[in-house]
Amino acid sequence: MKVLVTYQSKTGFTKKYAEWISEELKCDLKELKSVKEVNNYDLVIHGGWIMGGIIKGVKKIKKINSKKLIVFGVGLTPKKDINIDKMIKDNKLEDTPFFYFEGGTNSKKMGFLEEQ
Ligand SMILES: Cc1cc2nc3c(=O)[nH]c(=O)nc-3n(C[C@H](O)[C@H](O)[C@H](O)COP(=O)(O)O)c2cc1C
Repeated sequence: MKVLVTYQSKTGFTKKYAEWISEELKCDLKELKSVKEVNNYDLVIHGGWIMGGIIKGVKKIKKINSKKLIVFGVGLTPKKDINIDKMIKDNKLEDTPFFYFEGGTNSKKMGFLEEQ
């Protein structure tokens, strides 16, 4: 089975998780913005950072991938405080295996904080 890990990451936490998963599975890894189609793969695992409850890149990957999909979201909220049902509903992931990972803050890479 050919597996692809895609990710959308602003400050690097989601990228790191995506790297760990692709290393473990010994499969391809691509940043979502460089991906136009995924026809060669049987399974796509997409990770996106969470902004206002929305997992980045899910819309795009669902549009271009018609085969199996697994999604993970990375946010600052402690795992115990996550309302997983709401997250699944808000991101229309009712039919998609979904995992939540804790990220962090990297103020140097959060563009808007650099100006202060
Ligand atoms: C504008 C903005 C909105 C955010 N919204 C959420 C959120 O709704 N839930 C959450 O858990 N984390 C939220 N975060 C935290 C990020 O998801 C967290 O820092 C994550 O680790 C960033 O991932 P990245 O390093 O891959 O870019 C938000 C961060 C920013 C800058």
